[in-house]
Amino acid sequence: MGASITGTGSFLPAQRVSNKDLERSIDTSDEWIVQRTGIRFRHLLTKDEIPSDMGVQAAHRALSAAKRSPADVDLLLVATNFPDMICPGSAPFIAEALELDSTPFLDLKAGCTGFVYGLVVADGMIRSGVSKCVLVVGMEALSRVADWEDRRTCVLFGDGAGAAVLVAGEHDRGILGTAWYGDAEKKMLLHMPGGGVRIPATPESVKSRQHYLKMEGSGVFRSAVPMMEKATHEALRAADLALTDVDWVIPHQANNRIIDSLTRRLGVPPERVIVNVDQVANTSTASIPIAFDQAVRDGRIVPGDIVVMTAFGAGVTYGAVVLRVS
Ligand code: ACO
Repeated sequence: MGASITGTGSFLPAQRVSNKDLERSIDTSDEWIVQRTGIRFRHLLTKDEIPSDMGVQAAHRALSAAKRSPADVDLLLVATNFPDMICPGSAPFIAEALELDSTPFLDLKAGCTGFVYGLVVADGMIRSGVSKCVLVVGMEALSRVADWEDRRTCVLFGDGAGAAVLVAGEHDRGILGTAWYGDAEKKMLLHMPGGGVRIPATPESVKSRQHYLKMEGSGVFRSAVPMMEKATHEALRAADLALTDVDWVIPHQANNRIIDSLTRRLGVPPERVIVNVDQVANTSTASIPIAFDQAVRDGRIVPGDIVVMTAFGAGVTYGAVVLRVS
């Protein structure tokens, strides 16, 4: 039997920044941002807040919703592209805060598809019997790597975390189909050149702003839609379901135009699409688990619903998961 999500949680930093707020420090406008992306607000960490604390909060909420304790978790997967520290990552910080005892943990770096990849891995580990209870956290502090002097990128991002607890599914509930892909030729569409071992930090690399996220916006846009469309169809095929069976589509919340274009191509009406990008902007690996958690908690998504989640991201990676809600 496949894995089932039995609890979700999410966390957004308290600081909420509007497009109007950004107008004060960046040469941009509310009108430009809304028209091109649909984004109105984003939550950003303050200087003193610790990124992995977002993951810890989301994890506690997910465990509580699943009526589980940290002691039940036998695998922690933390999907993040920009960990607290390059080494040892973010997972050990979260494991320590949750007081996990000898439990394996690992960071999973797969661009904004990280949470979807995490679900695929968790499903495989549970199906194979290696794991019984997997905690998947999607967590990103993009404000820390956004170039606040580059208006083409910084306005797009927000910080946040989401989490899900997975155990073996029962009856017809749980993950029904998955599809995951990579396209390494497009790896430079989204990248941060500096800070790894290829370009370690030097005064020159810092001066030339190599430690910030670079994005080729139109290239990302052109790839994102067909990739998520393909992944959605393939995951549904694996589940032996059709789009007409689907109650909710949760696309990666990168921007409204990508979401609209994708759902138009899929033929899914807007009322069956979960969208919160206007309120939280693009939170990368956290985007799908935050949107999922919000829709579960406000009662839109209910047990028995068929949900498709689909994402694309740096790498580039893309994928989709189809599940029947427990
Ligand atoms: N405010 C005001 N003007 C701006 C801003 C801004 N924040 N950013 C760019 N502009 C200007 C540009 O300077 C340019 O002006 P010019 O014509 O005088 O040179 C003009 O707006 C158009 O710029 P483009 O970059 O061509 O704008 P485009 O229409 O392509 O929209 C956008 C940019 C929104 C980034 C679009 O390419 C897009 O949606 N791409 C998808 C990328 C994305 O969503 N990435 C998310 C991260 S990736 C991920 O999640 C995996």
